[in-house]
Amino acid sequence: MTKDLPPLLVVDDERNMRLSLETVMADEGYETCSAESAEEGLKLLRKQKCFLVVTDARLGGMSGYDLLKEIKKSWPDMPVLMITAYATPKLAVEAIKGGAIDYLAKPFAPEELLHAISRCAERHQLLQENAALKEKTLESFGLKRIVGESEEVEDLRNLIRIVAPTDATVLILGESGTGKELIAGAIHLLSKRQGQNYVRINCAAIPEQLLESELFGHEKGAFTGAIRNKAGRVEEADGGTIFLDEIGDMSRPLQAKLLRFLEDGTFTRVGGNQELKVDVRLIAATNRDIVTAIKTNAFREDLFHRLNVVQFMPPALRERGNDVILLANHFLKQFCCLMGKQIEGFSKDAERMLEMHHWPGNIRELRNAIERCVILESKPKIQVTSLPDFKLEARLRKTDHDNAHIAPSLEDLVSNFERDCIMNALAEHQYSLNHTAEYLRITRHSLRYRMHRLNIKFEHGGDEDTVVPEEQ
Ligand SMILES: Nc1ncnc2c1ncn2[C@@H]1O[C@H](COP(=O)(O)OP(=O)(O)OP(=O)(O)O)[C@@H](O)[C@H]1O
Ligand SMILES: [Mg+2]
Repeated sequence: MTKDLPPLLVVDDERNMRLSLETVMADEGYETCSAESAEEGLKLLRKQKCFLVVTDARLGGMSGYDLLKEIKKSWPDMPVLMITAYATPKLAVEAIKGGAIDYLAKPFAPEELLHAISRCAERHQLLQENAALKEKTLESFGLKRIVGESEEVEDLRNLIRIVAPTDATVLILGESGTGKELIAGAIHLLSKRQGQNYVRINCAAIPEQLLESELFGHEKGAFTGAIRNKAGRVEEADGGTIFLDEIGDMSRPLQAKLLRFLEDGTFTRVGGNQELKVDVRLIAATNRDIVTAIKTNAFREDLFHRLNVVQFMPPALRERGNDVILLANHFLKQFCCLMGKQIEGFSKDAERMLEMHHWPGNIRELRNAIERCVILESKPKIQVTSLPDFKLEARLRKTDHDNAHIAPSLEDLVSNFERDCIMNALAEHQYSLNHTAEYLRITRHSLRYRMHRLNIKFEHGGDEDTVVPEEQ
């Protein structure tokens, strides 16, 4: 229990008392340091981290009470245990009021002292654990979690640094899996609201009728099942931040209420008539095409403008250049660590395959792909065979195209399909032009011609036959 505990400081002007205290504590496994005056004690504290100060109330020079005052000024969390020969209730009250954690009157049994010390040691350990946990959460949501060295990601991090400390409303628009939630978390953690609540609501996951009550709360009897008053999540977020994820899925009537709330922070609970007010910073995100949603009247334009004070648009993974490999290695390490496996990296072919893929599901898709690889791989490096079947996903992506608002021309559709077929075939045949042409039943010349026409860029590989995808 005394493991990793810094020493405790004994301040007493009587040498014998210091020695006997030190012996008692050493027997219990506590490390101690000592000082014969308050002044010396303060000097020591500036140099040495201690977890507790045990001081006599009466000292030559500064008294134990003065010392207590000084300690509380510079180290407000430091517990101080006061010992005195004159135990009167008045003095005890004075010590406790001054911030002493306990008060012992001489003579006292060693167990009494040890009991008080062990409580302080426990408290110290709890505080340490708490601080470590807090730091871990901060770090896990902060900028450090946003991996990437591409210019786009660097810009993103800079914008977070600039915008986070302000109270500006933030709108995050981007494809699914591009890290919108990560950005929202980082903004909260870098803001002055960091110590307050961060409340996240996924508007798409809560049925429309319940979303209003979830957000703004309800009064007893407001609807069937409302058996007691319930505070809304905006109240929970008071002083902090609320993150409305998938805001594009919010119904129009609720959008109107949200707009009013955004104007001045006021709202009424469902079934209530009292106007309530909170101080909340709002961050909203959606992967929907918000412009189309406005055009089709699914999203209020005034709300869009109100939300759109600062806009973040995290880039799609396919636009992040070398970050694909960087992120792949990042997730590889993470999953190897989780699963206790040792895989040192990716084979050249696997790396190429990762670089060639379009990543319609962005970083989430990459993360899942790497998780799967780590489960399946038995070689020291990730092989192509452990990667998912990207051809299947290319077909899924094609369906996405079909659903896009502006339908692509037949010519584009055919070109895209042809490009996918050729890229997949190349990857499957280790980028050998001969083997790929043979597989596609066209001549090598025709393959080169089509690659040129479809703007598939390669450099020459190690031999006449192999090509290497062009660096981005
Ligand atoms: N830059 C990044 N570095 C490391 N991990 C990332 C990065 N961006 C996203 N991720 C990870 O990818 C996954 C998806 O990210 P996130 O949930 O933030 O996406 P999203 O944009 O909110 O997606 P959706 O629109 O589908 O909700 C998460 O596991 C997240 O931790
Ligand atoms: Mg999300």
